[in-house]
Amino acid sequence: MSNSKPVNRRQFLEKSSLIVAAASAASGARPASAQLNNSAAVNLKPVRLGFIGVGIRGTLLMDAAVGIAGVEIKAVADCYKGHLERAQELITPPPAVTGDYKEILARPDVDAVVIATPDHWHLQMTQEALAAGKHVYIEKPMTHRWEDGEAFIAAADKSGKLVQVGSQYTSMGCAQKATQLIKSGQLGQVTLVEGRFHRNTATGAWYYPIPPDASPATVDFKGFLGSAPAREFDLRRFFQWRLFWDYSGGLPTDLFVHLVTATHQLMGVQEPESVFSFGDIYHWKNYREVPDQMTSMVKYPEGFVLRLSSTASNGHPGPVLTIYGSEGTLEYTGGSFKHYYEPRTEGFGYSTRSWPKATTARFKELMNLNEGLSPLDGAVVADPVEYKSPNDEDSTRAHVRNWIEAIRTGGKPIEDVRFGHHAALVGHMCNLSYKAGKPVRWNKTTRKVEV
Ligand SMILES: NC(=O)c1ccc[n+]([C@@H]2O[C@H](COP(=O)([O-])OP(=O)(O)OC[C@H]3O[C@@H](n4cnc5c(N)ncnc54)[C@H](O)[C@@H]3O)[C@@H](O)[C@H]2O)c1
Repeated sequence: MSNSKPVNRRQFLEKSSLIVAAASAASGARPASAQLNNSAAVNLKPVRLGFIGVGIRGTLLMDAAVGIAGVEIKAVADCYKGHLERAQELITPPPAVTGDYKEILARPDVDAVVIATPDHWHLQMTQEALAAGKHVYIEKPMTHRWEDGEAFIAAADKSGKLVQVGSQYTSMGCAQKATQLIKSGQLGQVTLVEGRFHRNTATGAWYYPIPPDASPATVDFKGFLGSAPAREFDLRRFFQWRLFWDYSGGLPTDLFVHLVTATHQLMGVQEPESVFSFGDIYHWKNYREVPDQMTSMVKYPEGFVLRLSSTASNGHPGPVLTIYGSEGTLEYTGGSFKHYYEPRTEGFGYSTRSWPKATTARFKELMNLNEGLSPLDGAVVADPVEYKSPNDEDSTRAHVRNWIEAIRTGGKPIEDVRFGHHAALVGHMCNLSYKAGKPVRWNKTTRKVEV
């Protein structure tokens, strides 16, 4: 996310939120993405996709899918007409479009669906899609409430269909290499992991611009609400839904979930023990319910703590994760990482400064120390080693491809519903702790959060 600030944030917010039915602006269409319908040429069984929710993320997922050989986008559902029009501009041949996602599930020419709707829809749409016999790619966070995790698992197990949870961090180019490095013990004992996700723009704080043609004629607000509490027509809720608890879990489930996913993968763990959070609305105060800053500590039974932080008012770049071990440190971004060796040099001068000269001299002799009062066979300081992904495939495309290949081969997706449940669970526990003002625990036996 860029560090640059909008010229005038207040003006931007006021203007953007006042737009209700202004004249339609030119859309700035870019060249349509031709689907790689070359399945016959490469002897692949086609996988025919339907998309439910083609807003910001769904559009990126369509971009990712059209680059995968043998994938065909047959139909698209959304509650805003502009997103449906855009899908038809972008995809060649243009997919069928509908405002009713159930029509996608009823189509016999759709094998699998990609769901990229707001979080409160994830469980219901996944259950219905699996019951209709479709494989599912469900965007992160898998759940909107931690209680929904088991229902996801039951639905996936019962259906026998493949569910990929859409945290593309698991498909990052360096994920396997970093996981192996930690597993092989090269970092020694890891007791601390730090993850950060900072931003400093209106978009980064989720005040997404409202399209000038948005109105009751182009937006199905009731369709968006679904089982969420009834509300009057409200374009902020529709386009900026992350600001409101009814549809989103804020920073922990939207952004921490990526850090938690990467940590669970790299450290080979899944379930937390307890979580403690601090959060507040410090900077972006306009009509938001969810904090714009959150810091949480997650304790794992495997013997380490994950410290997570996110602010929406500073975009200082840094590694996504830092993993601290007794023998080394890893600065991890997903596409690359730096491995630092931990020299562990001992320096006795700190203590012997308070000793008489003769005592220090005797100690130096007994301990075989150098003039700096460090052991003569002390650790060698080595330069950090940097690893880069061996390929430049976009991680979202790699993640969708992993799902498509699992569908074709009957294999397993890289991020299944159990993994997705536990990654989102940590985010929900962060919010529960923030709201309760005290630590919350995960009871592994009852599989319940204790507040
Ligand atoms: N993996 C990632 O890095 C990543 C990045 C961004 C978003 N996401 C996830 O993707 C999801 C969507 O986020 P977004 O930023 O694209 O939001 P968005 O608001 O841009 O898009 C959501 C779309 O869902 C549509 N929708 C809502 N209810 C619907 C319904 N009942 N039927 C059909 N369509 C419906 C809306 O009309 C909208 O177009 C969220 O769960 C989010 O967490 C993941």
